[in-house]
Amino acid sequence: MFEDFWAKKGEEATVVIPGWQTLSYFSDVTNVCWFLERDFGQEVRRLHKLVGNAVTEDRYIVIGTGSTQLYQAAVFALSPPDASEPMSVVSAVPYYSGYPMKTDYLRSGLFRWAGDARAFKGESYIEVVCSPNNPDGSMNKAVLNSETGKTIHDLAYYWPQYTAITEPADHDIMLFTVSKSTGHAGTRLGWAIVKDPNIAKKMTKFIAMNTIGVSKDSQLRAAKILKVISDGYEHPNTKSSMRLFDFGRDRLAKRWERLREVVKATKLFSLPEYPLETCKFTREKFAAYPAFAWLKCEKEEIEDCESFLKKLKIQTRGGMHFGVDMKYVRVSMLDREETFKLFIERLASLA
Ligand SMILES: Cc1ncc(COP(=O)(O)O)c(C=O)c1O
Repeated sequence: MFEDFWAKKGEEATVVIPGWQTLSYFSDVTNVCWFLERDFGQEVRRLHKLVGNAVTEDRYIVIGTGSTQLYQAAVFALSPPDASEPMSVVSAVPYYSGYPMKTDYLRSGLFRWAGDARAFKGESYIEVVCSPNNPDGSMNKAVLNSETGKTIHDLAYYWPQYTAITEPADHDIMLFTVSKSTGHAGTRLGWAIVKDPNIAKKMTKFIAMNTIGVSKDSQLRAAKILKVISDGYEHPNTKSSMRLFDFGRDRLAKRWERLREVVKATKLFSLPEYPLETCKFTREKFAAYPAFAWLKCEKEEIEDCESFLKKLKIQTRGGMHFGVDMKYVRVSMLDREETFKLFIERLASLA
């Protein structure tokens, strides 16, 4: 979806990296995260300040190869190295399907996936809170509360194209990524905002052991991309007047409107409703336009919504990947315009 925006920005968002640049493993050895390029760190703080979606003052920034690597670094950093049992990692259903897979893939002795946070009994855990939530777009808060429990807040979608920014988030570990904020999933760059220096150090250590840092070329590109977004709001007289969050919200609002019409006409499905909230960034009141549609099949005869839609050549992800039943499916709202149109046409054929 974001391709059209960046294509129009053209030269303004283009980066050229000479052959002699960014050769070293190191960026700034005085920083806890010694592979963080200064420009990228500055642009991250600048953008959060502009949008008002996260506190960055007196916080450490740790970068990763996507927030996927940072999730693993955070789980590692929060798990005691000498506990008798692996730390339980939980998240409230429906949870992002990546969490169980990434937690258990290497069968670590330090942590293990323990499913739905609401069903968890115990005092020691890591709760992953995704807000707005993938897959259902809800503004989640931690459901567990214990002195020894830890949280990781995955705020990949806490940006004004998806939801109203109601306050600057201020949690112990907050994960963000260019893949959802700007559309640059292929740049593979995420950042964590971390309160505790020891946790920031452990996360940095994990990434150093795993990949000896994070691509500097990606950081330089992402620094430019974030700069163009902030400049668009702070210096509106730059070459093109189009601004990323306005573009994203406008596109998503239209897509959601179209989808809701078609879903209603089919009389087969339902979609979540989102409350109207005032966004402190745009100063407008709007309901969320999530990056995914969380469709529920309301027809009793259809047990497996994913297979049902597959027959119509609509590719979705079934509820079981998110810890719920197969009446639910998740559909991306961020595909290219022509793909989204096809999706709507195929769904409309059921009406
Ligand atoms: C909630 C959530 N967290 C993390 C990720 C992974 O992001 P990245 O591309 O930064 O690894 C995704 C991707 O779909 C996601 O939806």
